[in-house]
Amino acid sequence: MDLTDRNVVITGAGRGIGAALAASFHARGANVVLADIAGAPEAARAIDPQRATGIDADVSTEEGNRLLVERATEILGSIDLFFANAGVGTGTTLADTGEDVWEQAFAVNVHAHRWAAKHLVDEWVARGEGYFCSTASAAGLLAQIGSGPYTLTKRAAVAFAEWMAITYGDAGIRVTCLCPQGVNTAMLHAGDDEVSGSDVVRAAGVVLEPDDVAEQVADAIERESFLVLPHPEVADYVRRKADDPERWLAGMRKLQRRVTGA
Ligand SMILES: NC(=O)c1ccc[n+]([C@@H]2O[C@H](COP(=O)([O-])OP(=O)(O)OC[C@H]3O[C@@H](n4cnc5c(N)ncnc54)[C@H](O)[C@@H]3O)[C@@H](O)[C@H]2O)c1
Repeated sequence: MDLTDRNVVITGAGRGIGAALAASFHARGANVVLADIAGAPEAARAIDPQRATGIDADVSTEEGNRLLVERATEILGSIDLFFANAGVGTGTTLADTGEDVWEQAFAVNVHAHRWAAKHLVDEWVARGEGYFCSTASAAGLLAQIGSGPYTLTKRAAVAFAEWMAITYGDAGIRVTCLCPQGVNTAMLHAGDDEVSGSDVVRAAGVVLEPDDVAEQVADAIERESFLVLPHPEVADYVRRKADDPERWLAGMRKLQRRVTGA
């Protein structure tokens, strides 16, 4: 898809990867609506007060997604590409993660994708085109050491993106799923006082800048590629996991011991 003059909505765009995606798509000629629970109007103004709009939106409920699609459609006229990027990196072990944390992780990292798609897909199928993008994580293809909720929800986000591509691909709907390892954002630096999932991400490989990731995503959208792996070594890890699951699990336990010092 050529992004020139396309109408694009990005969630979680108040900062981090989402703000970088918005800036990259805008630079390629798209009209962008940035949505977030915090910071979206400021992020939009920083990109372009004329051609970028920031709106407050909470995607953790179906109603929040329905309202977002409605408001963005009013602003843009129609939505060509929706990017479900908002995410939460909360949750640790079974003992230490409350039900409310599990529910919020599933709401934002998984159900938000489904709710947005639900309120977009009929119009896209009628039109014969539409583009659904999501930010999952390399953790969704592998696992996030230390966080059950992140591992489960990102795996589900990858599965949802795949299912969308299978189910609606022949109706003209394209899907791109972003699965990075470490990216230099507030999420990566959360929990710096203790051993956290982000320690694992930083120990596991290169930490990329959001702008570089966003450029790779925009290139992938222009090529209409499904999977974006800004850390190409992730493809090797996935292959090794499929070839020998026992060995992969042993390696992950070793990485966990290295990070926790156990
Ligand atoms: N940073 C990394 O290393 C990394 C790696 C892999 C995947 N990801 C994923 O990338 C995406 C973007 O994260 P980031 O790294 O830019 O972190 P970030 O914390 O800077 O950005 C996440 C954004 O999502 C917003 N958000 C959270 N809950 C929301 C809600 N209910 N409604 C609307 N917005 C909400 C936050 O306000 C925030 O602006 C997330 O899905 C994250 O899981 C990040």
